[in-house]
Amino acid sequence: MTKIVESAKALMPKLVEIRRDFHEYPETSQNEVETSRKVASYLKEMGCDQVIENVGGHGVIGIIKGKKNGKTVALRADMDALQIQEMNDVEYKSRNDGVMHACGHDNHMTGLLGAAKLLCQNRDEICGTVKLVFQPAEEFSPVGGSRGMLESGYLDDIGAIFGLHVWPDLPHGTVGIKAGPLMAATDHFTITIHGKTAHGAKPDQGIDAVVLGAQFVMAAQSIVSRKVNPLDNAVVTFGIFNAGTRYNIIAGECVLDGTVRTLNEKTRDMIEETMRKLLDGLCLQSGATADIVYGRGYPALVNHAEDAALVRRTAVSLFGEENVEDVQDPAMPAEDFSFYLKEKKGAFVWLGTAKEGKEVWPLHNSRFDVDEDILWRGAALLAQTAMDYLAEK
Ligand code: NI
Repeated sequence: MTKIVESAKALMPKLVEIRRDFHEYPETSQNEVETSRKVASYLKEMGCDQVIENVGGHGVIGIIKGKKNGKTVALRADMDALQIQEMNDVEYKSRNDGVMHACGHDNHMTGLLGAAKLLCQNRDEICGTVKLVFQPAEEFSPVGGSRGMLESGYLDDIGAIFGLHVWPDLPHGTVGIKAGPLMAATDHFTITIHGKTAHGAKPDQGIDAVVLGAQFVMAAQSIVSRKVNPLDNAVVTFGIFNAGTRYNIIAGECVLDGTVRTLNEKTRDMIEETMRKLLDGLCLQSGATADIVYGRGYPALVNHAEDAALVRRTAVSLFGEENVEDVQDPAMPAEDFSFYLKEKKGAFVWLGTAKEGKEVWPLHNSRFDVDEDILWRGAALLAQTAMDYLAEK
């Protein structure tokens, strides 16, 4: 067993206490007031050299300087909870009505605080500086909290950033790693086609928004099948099609509402552009007018290969090859960690929480929970990744 694993396990009583404290008092995006105050106080308790509060809203950055000179690396945890009423019957159940840490961010903060302690204990061996980034508002799409952390300037000097997410789709304790795209970009569009009402028996006197809406939906089906590289992946989904007022009236308006998921920026740009062109063509041909509101959510999360490989080596050294999984397929949910990886090097990994013999509840579910044995693993992985990165650079 490596030294870090041993030290991380020794922190367990404290980590469980911290995690339950966060879990009992969850706060929603942009309202992480108490959470932020607690994080700052814990960081000081762990021995950080410097603690900077109110970064990009309720964000907090802890700084640990190694005894040897070197580069700077960042580790990130998100802080916010969701508007969900917790259904778990546990002693640490949420005490804030209608709010719950259903995405496991309580575990991310606890893991990073554990890492802070481990890094402070190993200052003599650290070649450089570690910045511990506690980021608010991860769930606040399309705005997100990561951009505020980047804009603060405190991350300008980092060589790379690493983070993790508890992941119920992987077995407990398994570290899931993938170079390249790991999570999708999620965009939301709303299209309104303005036609012209007329008597249902006199279509030539109107501009039929139902027919135009149907034409648009069908035309958009060719984007993924004909315009996206077959080796790439994308989704164009229309979730809402609303039109018409009466069976014998030509509909004057049609509203289409949907989502686009992509794994790289080129495809993302191409799909938006193609949808706009298809709509222009439809208007030109029919005499209708149309508006499109195309809202960009978080970009795709794309891991840098070199950094993903580094976390892989670190994870194998800590937990053994049998507890590391090379993830094959990206997941289509989004993560605003993607903004860091657009500007900086680094990697984001999944930490499995599915315990054998126990029912597995998905993220964002009112019954989501983890086995707390996961906490020392998160702490050890984050701390050792930072130390390995700095030692190699
Ligand atoms: Ni999350």
